[in-house]
Amino acid sequence: MATISIKTADDIKGMRIAGRLASEVLDFITPQVKAGITTGELDRLCHDYMVNVQGTIPAPLNYCPPGYTPYPKAICTSVNDVVCHGIPSDKLLKNGDVVNLDITVIKDGYHGDTSRMFYIGEPSILAKRLNEITFECMWLGISKIKPGAYLGDIGSVIQQHAEKAGYSVVREFCGHGIGKVFHEEPQVLHYGRAGTLEQLVAGMIFTVEPMINAGRREIREMGDGWTIKTKDRSLSAQWEHTVLVTDNGYEVLTASQGMPLPPAPIQINTSIPT
Ligand code: MF3
Ligand code: CO
Ligand code: CO
Repeated sequence: MATISIKTADDIKGMRIAGRLASEVLDFITPQVKAGITTGELDRLCHDYMVNVQGTIPAPLNYCPPGYTPYPKAICTSVNDVVCHGIPSDKLLKNGDVVNLDITVIKDGYHGDTSRMFYIGEPSILAKRLNEITFECMWLGISKIKPGAYLGDIGSVIQQHAEKAGYSVVREFCGHGIGKVFHEEPQVLHYGRAGTLEQLVAGMIFTVEPMINAGRREIREMGDGWTIKTKDRSLSAQWEHTVLVTDNGYEVLTASQGMPLPPAPIQINTSIPT
């Protein structure tokens, strides 16, 4: 069984700061996410904001897990049928596109990891519904988090909500423990059975980041070694937060003024930083 680290009070303080800063990069870039800008320009704007305004380090830049080449940019920009890890480029965003921006910053050694979806102009009915269901999947998963709950409770509620809507859950990528290390134990699967896998303990910190496809769940890696697309070229959506297990539930660490609020019955259990 994997060993999942329990964060100290100092770690939690650091993770609150890193989480807020990651979310604030998304707040900063939101007004720029529109037709006519390239994903490369979004990357440069985010990079400069992180480095020059926040004093944070963009964690993706040169990130090199075993079997990968170093990631060449500061953020991930995943457009339409790109599931995750889209590399910013000279690709122009156009009306009708949907794009996920995934931001991970490092502040004082701690990582904050969060992503949101954006519409370019008016979305198709399919893109809007896929995005809304994926957002609900993330929040339903988060809402299960408390001491004594099982990791499988999170995956189960996400899979059921996605499949009930006629969508599929990507299996090759998952949420992850996070702290001074970008990706650590546990793996947080976005599918599975309630009451299975590890039990949660206060002080654990991990991400919930479901990738939901409008079509089949299979994926393909592109020749750049990073970009993942749906095999059937159907649309894919993703949302991500970094979450702390508290004594009586959860606290969303990647909260900020501009974050979209959870669907009605779900609490963020976090005071939005001013
Ligand atoms: N931010 C992604 C995640 O949620 C990881 C991106 S790794 C990169 O885990 F190298 F592609 F940036
Ligand atoms: Co993540
Ligand atoms: Co991320």
